[in-house]
Amino acid sequence: MKIALIGFGSVGRGKSGIISAGGIDMRAVLDRKKATGMCGTPGISAWDVITTADYDLLIEVTPTDATTGEPALTYIREALAAGRHVVTSNKGPIAVAFHELSRLAAEKNVQLRYEATVCGAVPIMKALEHGLAGNEIIKISGVFNGTCNYILTRMADEGLTYQQALMEARELGYAEADPTYDVQGIDAAIKLVILANTVWGLSTTLDDVDITGIDSLTLAALELADGQECTIRLIGEIIPKKNILRISPRIMPKNHPLVVSGTLNAVMVDTDMAGEVTLIGKGAGSRETASAIISDVLFIRDYHVKRS
Ligand code: HSE
Repeated sequence: MKIALIGFGSVGRGKSGIISAGGIDMRAVLDRKKATGMCGTPGISAWDVITTADYDLLIEVTPTDATTGEPALTYIREALAAGRHVVTSNKGPIAVAFHELSRLAAEKNVQLRYEATVCGAVPIMKALEHGLAGNEIIKISGVFNGTCNYILTRMADEGLTYQQALMEARELGYAEADPTYDVQGIDAAIKLVILANTVWGLSTTLDDVDITGIDSLTLAALELADGQECTIRLIGEIIPKKNILRISPRIMPKNHPLVVSGTLNAVMVDTDMAGEVTLIGKGAGSRETASAIISDVLFIRDYHVKRS
């Protein structure tokens, strides 16, 4: 299976492309990027790679634009329309145009997979699609943003102020390029939209999510919770039958399964047969995101081999 990769860096810093029928020497590309900041041949753009290279699968890992989904949306649309499978870690296009892209993939008999968009390395999509197949999914709740969880953990455990904890999270590279996406609950809300549309076939957008972030949370509120053997977590919840789609800081007992520490994410799925199933793991980081992408690529490889 031939793979085209768009985005090459912590998130897609490459400004040039490479097309090579004989394969690409990744070590040489990494060395060149380190030395020059560029990974490919000047004059060859991402668009050239998508439209002129010979490939079966596009891995799209460029930066996210939550409002328009672009330019990734155009890249993904083009690849699917040309009958190529797509794996993406990009939340924007999936949140903005999930139904359109899914229809296109089905029409062209190719796969669109996006495990990495929700909770990084946690295989929530595959758990819902395969592991819990046949169950009615009643509710999904969880901690969907590692940056907020890190901030809340550091404030509660070390008495840091919100600003100090946020600065730490930024220094550690967990936060989005614009951390207001994290702390205002927008990043977590995008993940809820992706889950709601995938699991229940809804047509929700970011505007449908009732969002409260952690940006005005005080140390005093955390101390108050602590006095009652509780703490505060930014919790996302989807309960379609009750029309609930919300992100909000919640007071939680310290021993609740969703009270995870640091940058961990946690997702609890409430089902009719399996009861409650909770998955906990790393929701951000380049290796963790790569884990989700590789699992999607291997899934598609099997599908591709069976199809051919
Ligand atoms: N900024 C996000 C987080 C990264 O902190 O969870 C993963 O989407």
